[in-house]
Amino acid sequence: MDNPEILNSIHVIALLLRPPDTGSLLAEVVKLLHRERPHYHWVGIYLLEGDELVLGPFVGKPSPHDRIPLGKGICGAAASTAQTVIVDDVSADPRYLACSLETRSEIVVPIKRRGQVVGEIDIDSDQPAAFTSQDQDLLEGVADILAAKMGD
Ligand code: SME
Repeated sequence: MDNPEILNSIHVIALLLRPPDTGSLLAEVVKLLHRERPHYHWVGIYLLEGDELVLGPFVGKPSPHDRIPLGKGICGAAASTAQTVIVDDVSADPRYLACSLETRSEIVVPIKRRGQVVGEIDIDSDQPAAFTSQDQDLLEGVADILAAKMGD
């Protein structure tokens, strides 16, 4: 699937989940992204609770980081700046919190509702520099759809 097809599929999933069921939507979205993009080896969604990011649905190996303070990690950096972060070589980034020894690169995309960060999409790849502007465009589009559905 290309980027617009994935975004359309997520709209359809959201429509089919009536009454709105945000937990199921997030779980379906992580599965869809993992299935459609072979370089997405770990796909998860963190939700902001107070000043901590709490791990929600994910696909991949269990992570030791199921709660991340806003000041920690690549995840904390993306949430506290409300900006997408792409790290081409996680071993060279002092902020990085390791989830798996195989991970080489990471992208974290904030989910913003009415300008406020409510969560984020976190994806790890076993390939170095796996994430391009195409991934960023796709995932920012996904984050916008999720933001519109969260809290409905
Ligand atoms: N690598 C992240 C932690 C989450 S795991 O990748 C699942 C970080 O540095 O914040």
